Amino acid sequence: MNFPIDISQERIKELKVDFTRFRMAYKFALDEMTTKLNILNEEFSYIHDYNPIEHISTRMKSPDSLIKKVLKKNIPLSFDHIKDNIRDIAGIRITCSFRSDIYQISEMIQSQRDIEVIDIKDYITNPKPNGYRSLHLILKIPVFMSDREESVFVEVQIRTIAMDFWASLEHKIYYKYNQEVPEELLIELKEAAKTASDLDKKMEDLHKKVAVIKQEKDD
Ligand code: GTP
Ligand code: MG
Repeated sequence: MNFPIDISQERIKELKVDFTRFRMAYKFALDEMTTKLNILNEEFSYIHDYNPIEHISTRMKSPDSLIKKVLKKNIPLSFDHIKDNIRDIAGIRITCSFRSDIYQISEMIQSQRDIEVIDIKDYITNPKPNGYRSLHLILKIPVFMSDREESVFVEVQIRTIAMDFWASLEHKIYYKYNQEVPEELLIELKEAAKTASDLDKKMEDLHKKVAVIKQEKDD
């Protein structure tokens, strides 16, 4: 990577501090989102008698992969430009029990007053050509720091356990083959995605049937 060489030690120190504070805003946004989701999960579970969220994981884009993306997209090397143009520095993945939970959780997130919804990609209704399914939200979250308020992007991926299982293994295979997966494997992967989707439908049906039986018992 080509960075200007004539940069003083003083300036490097300053940049380190700025970069750490820059990343902190995203970490705090993830902390806020995690708290919000835990609240939603707990309250939902009180009302409906089950947890719609099986698992939440958060990740910060590594400095290495951030720089790679900035250079690839030709974004000027300034914190402001990076902040405005890269939307997945902070990522959160929510694994839900059932497909219907995905949309309920998504609605609950979207209706919160301090959250701005920037973009929604529904790869469940419209799966990617390779079979990938998930609901993606790009949000903007306010973060209150000691001397300023920042609004930062957070990428949220919401999926079922079956969708997550498929995506995790597809990702591994993709990297194993150095991103050039043989055609026959691509076909099989797509079939596997369909199997995962059929399983989701089956589990959702079972879930509805159990709810009806429970309701009849309670009446
Ligand atoms: P970037 O690839 O991050 O620039 O995002 P994009 O603008 O193309 O957005 P998209 O919503 O398509 O993908 C964002 C993220 O979703 C990726 O970084 C992955 O984590 C996940 N994702 C998207 N497509 C796939 C896929 O085909 N397989 C797997 N395993 N994950 C995917
Ligand atoms: Mg990404």
